[in-house]
Amino acid sequence: MADARPFHWEYEPPKVPRERYLVTGGRALEGTINVSGAKNAALKMLAAATLTGERCRLTNVPEIEDVRAMTDTLRDLGVVVDHPEPNCYEISAGDVDWLFVPLEAAAKMRASFMLLGPLLARFGEVIISNPGGDRIGRRPVDLHVDAMRTLGAEIEYRYGYYYAKAPGRLRGTDVRFPFVTVMGTENAMLAATLADGHTTIRPAAREPEVDDLIAFLQKMGASVERTAPDTIEVHGRRRLRGAEHRVMPDRIEAGTFAIAAGITGGHVVLDGADCDTMNALVEVLGRTGLAVACAPDRMDVDARAVGPGGLKAVDIETGAYPALATDIQPPTAVLLTQARGRSTVRETIFEDRLEWLAELRKMGATIDVKSPHEAVIEGPAALHAATVEISDLRAGASLILAALAADGTSSIGGAHHVQRGYENIERKFLDLGARIERVQEGELTATA
Ligand code: EPU
Repeated sequence: MADARPFHWEYEPPKVPRERYLVTGGRALEGTINVSGAKNAALKMLAAATLTGERCRLTNVPEIEDVRAMTDTLRDLGVVVDHPEPNCYEISAGDVDWLFVPLEAAAKMRASFMLLGPLLARFGEVIISNPGGDRIGRRPVDLHVDAMRTLGAEIEYRYGYYYAKAPGRLRGTDVRFPFVTVMGTENAMLAATLADGHTTIRPAAREPEVDDLIAFLQKMGASVERTAPDTIEVHGRRRLRGAEHRVMPDRIEAGTFAIAAGITGGHVVLDGADCDTMNALVEVLGRTGLAVACAPDRMDVDARAVGPGGLKAVDIETGAYPALATDIQPPTAVLLTQARGRSTVRETIFEDRLEWLAELRKMGATIDVKSPHEAVIEGPAALHAATVEISDLRAGASLILAALAADGTSSIGGAHHVQRGYENIERKFLDLGARIERVQEGELTATA
């Protein structure tokens, strides 16, 4: 097994500006927001664009820190990345002269590891750092590495880096995962598009972002198809071509704002939301008593009829798609603090994704964390303002939600985590009537 140390000893993490959100609760959110493009689709498409030397054009790409980190990494490799207008990126990976993804890139974001498959398949070698990302569990990459080895790559791990080589082309094969992995599926699929022969990936992740990536690859000329719900088949091609694709809407962002409506007793319309990708959440919201109406490209969440303390307790359990997404579990947990009775939250994907609940407790929530995978929430709790710290992207958005439902002004540190994955989050909340601002630590005056 590879050395589990993520970083080599010389590395010092870059300094990020210390910023906090100041959020004053107590207002019902009302209005319409546009749902942005999906982070977890866009990042993989940016990586996939290196499979060809021709120009790829991606639209509806969210303007978020993770996209900036990925495009910076591509530029460091020698890839030309143009940004002709907001939310549009053009990628030309004609001359990739530096097949090295350094720790500085990888430490910022786990999705940097998505460059392993395409670079290896197209150029036959890459040196890539063990990735970083959110602190929500161990999050190893052994399944990605095993998949590449199955496809014929030689990979050694030394001092925090994977040295990967594919003598000749990668070879199509059967890739079997012991359990569902989203990026593992995607990495194997990207690598297989240029491999020699036929590849079957099973169990393949069923997340809608994987299918959006398949759609983009097909436009690039790849022969890739989901032939059964849990099976993706790829016939390798010698080369792929440039393509244009519009990134699907972000179902986790949409879900976060849907819950904002519910938790504040408001009414929010989500323009561009794709309800079909959000069935598990829509079902949970319905069971709490919220009125959710779906139309093509639109979702309407109305909590005005519910009344204070009127939400119902619900037991939830996360899982691979089509089950409830682990990324929407933290916001849903906040909603359940306002539901009458006892709700159980079971987190089956990551082992550290309930830890942030300690911060939510500081705001008055009644939560008993039974194990790393199970918490019990008693509601409704009268949330009050507090000074809290964000530990990861989704916990950050969830603390904002809690503050919107709390009495007083909360001070939420670690805003950079949220900037990684939500486009214009303050602007969108302000448009719905929320009171939220982002301030430098030094300027911080108002706290609860
Ligand atoms: N796992 C391994 N070995 C591997 C890969 C995964 O043991 O080589 C384990 C993980 O530790 C985890 C489970 O497998 O327990 C499933 O993880 P998965 O590989 O599916 O997660 P991921 O692909 O690394 C993506 C999203 C996450 C999202 C998960 C689950 C991206 C960039 N990230 O991560 O999104 O939570 O799928 O749906 O697509 C987020 O956006 O906030 C986020 C964390």
